[in-house]
Amino acid sequence: MFKRAVFIGFGLIGSSLARVMRAQQLAHTIVACTRSQSTLDAAMALGIVDEVTVDPTKAVQGADLVVLAVPVALMEPLLRQIAPHLHPNAIITDVGSTKGNVATAALNVFGNNIPTGLVPAHPIAGAENSGVHAGRADLFVNHKVIVTPLTSSSEQATEQVIRLWESAGANVITMGVAEHDHVLAQTSHLPHLLAFALVDQLSHSSTNLDVFKYAAGGLRDFTRIAASDPQMWHDIFLQNKAALNSAINSFELSFAQIKHSIDHNDSTALLNCLHHAARARRHFGAMLNQGTYMQSKSNQQTFTLQPQGSVNGDFSVPGDKSVSHRSIMFGALADGVTTVSNFLEGEDALATLQAFVDMGVRIDGPSKGKVTIYGVGVDGLQAPKQPLYMGNSGTSMRLLSGILSAQPFDSIMTGDSSLSKRPMERVAKPLRSMGALIQSTGDKGTPPLSITGAQQLNAISYTLPMASAQVKSGLLLAGIWAKGITSVTEPEPTRDHTERMLQAFGYPVQVDGATVSIKGGGRLTATHIDVPADISSAAFFMVAAAIARNSRVVLRKIGINPTRTGVIEILKQMGANISLSNQSIVGGEPVADITITSSVLKGIHIPEDQVPLAIDEFPALFIAASCASGTTTLTGAAELRVKESDRIKVMADGLQLLGITCQPTADGMVIEGKGDIDAVFGGGQIASQHDHRIAMSFAIASLRASAPIVIEGCETVATSFPNFVSLAKSAGMGISSTEQ
Ligand code: S3P
Repeated sequence: MFKRAVFIGFGLIGSSLARVMRAQQLAHTIVACTRSQSTLDAAMALGIVDEVTVDPTKAVQGADLVVLAVPVALMEPLLRQIAPHLHPNAIITDVGSTKGNVATAALNVFGNNIPTGLVPAHPIAGAENSGVHAGRADLFVNHKVIVTPLTSSSEQATEQVIRLWESAGANVITMGVAEHDHVLAQTSHLPHLLAFALVDQLSHSSTNLDVFKYAAGGLRDFTRIAASDPQMWHDIFLQNKAALNSAINSFELSFAQIKHSIDHNDSTALLNCLHHAARARRHFGAMLNQGTYMQSKSNQQTFTLQPQGSVNGDFSVPGDKSVSHRSIMFGALADGVTTVSNFLEGEDALATLQAFVDMGVRIDGPSKGKVTIYGVGVDGLQAPKQPLYMGNSGTSMRLLSGILSAQPFDSIMTGDSSLSKRPMERVAKPLRSMGALIQSTGDKGTPPLSITGAQQLNAISYTLPMASAQVKSGLLLAGIWAKGITSVTEPEPTRDHTERMLQAFGYPVQVDGATVSIKGGGRLTATHIDVPADISSAAFFMVAAAIARNSRVVLRKIGINPTRTGVIEILKQMGANISLSNQSIVGGEPVADITITSSVLKGIHIPEDQVPLAIDEFPALFIAASCASGTTTLTGAAELRVKESDRIKVMADGLQLLGITCQPTADGMVIEGKGDIDAVFGGGQIASQHDHRIAMSFAIASLRASAPIVIEGCETVATSFPNFVSLAKSAGMGISSTEQ
């Protein structure tokens, strides 16, 4: 790629990039230039470079790539020194943490003739150690590198710098110089400054010895970065003065507010601030691991289940996921303050919540299931500053597609690696025919989704090609802003929470057989939403009690919306002892207590009209089918292949591994039940493929297993059922969870 690649400065970053270039033969000759002779000797001895010199003016002669890997404060004098010796077509880049100073240095040195090959960049990678010996060829793998082209940079040079970093395995982002410095001031420079300041202040106190002696994890965690290189941070703070000052000013404001709430015993303000921060930090945690979220070892959770046992108890499960999502969306779009109780504090619903916070909506909580949403009205959302991160949640992304298509601003939605594989064209295509400008990614039309705002939407009448409440809801939501009456006809009834909740918020909805219609231009009025307990979570305990010996479980106040009760109907047809009592209406949704006891199950052909009504419950129902006598056949359920995982394949793989005879088909599964024997399943190690419902289904299979079952990839259980392990334990299951 390059003839002569020159590194000026040869510490951790420079020598790591040189190692990449050497390993991949990206340059014919690699040159190291630094003032330290011992570094140059080491570079030669390590075989990373072909030539060394202490003289930068000599080094750059004939170079077609010059990498400036020196401290940020040296950028201008160095550029001035090498300027006369640079080849006019050379690519010049740097690796510094501040970029405005490079742009200013270039202007001061070159005036209006900044070389078109100058493209600043900032690899965000570091390690505890520094220096040439600490360098590694894999230092940049999966790390971000921000490339900040100048107005003078040629496209070709920018492209080459991007490709160079991509070959190092980095995720390259391009942004403007000012934006880079602003973002880094907040996310890196301010936190370093705070850590230095706190340790400095504590170490001056007369009791400093005691302070550090008793310092618990909090101080250690918060101040780890205060041990970083002082000279380097001195340079960064001074070089990024303007952006850092503005970050300090904003921090001082919020610091003063939190101090004020403590001084005045203002618990509400204090708790709001703390809840908000805790929620955001949890969300960022997932966001920071985006891409590696699902694969990352550090995030993996494994369930280990002891075989056999009973389940007994009288309890409830967390709030309904579908209703929780919608309560935030409608509450945010309503006029007035909406309160929500029994909100599901799972990662999926929290992703929706965070998205609306990112669009300027004030939301307090969740705190013990209570959320308060200060609605901004249908015209009040603000442009998010960053892409909206939807985590694992298809519901968030598909419903928000409809809302965002109608906003006056542009937006981008991203997700974790599971969501990034799920089909989005099913909602994007009909939205386009309403006038939306929405773009999915890749041949398969997957996330990220990019939406261009300020489009006038027009109503359409659309017949869904698949039974999908998410697509139906996305279109109905877009219909709020569309001119005319938007109608959606579904092939089979699917969950109708959107229709019900729109009406609860005072927005008229017409339902005529299989067609739902909504007239654009209306408004929503804030209300109170009491979220029923999630029947999809309850399903695991229904199946558990049905298959385990000597078991009886009463599940309280479970949502029994008729578009969700397929699991009850199917279990009944299989012969389960299941009964409903105390039926009532909560927040516009029917609820009941469900009692289920150990049952002798028989295989059935699952009626196809029940499929959309039990779409999320099939992994658990497959476990029930394995314990039934005779064959269970599922057809008409191809949608299972595009859930959080391909649930037909992943379940079939797991069932076969545990000794069940089953045949996956294009749209379902045939399972040979083992009938009324204790050890239906063998033991083994199951890959849940990071799908929450697969993980929980194999957990309950242990109740009829002959040996322990270990399930990998259970961290996503927190998306829908955060307290699954503790409830399962208290009901009597031998479950433990470990994190790696
Ligand atoms: C949901 C609809 C269903 C379901 C999902 C939640 C909703 O998805 O599987 O868990 O809240 O609208 P589809 O619409 O893709 O069937």
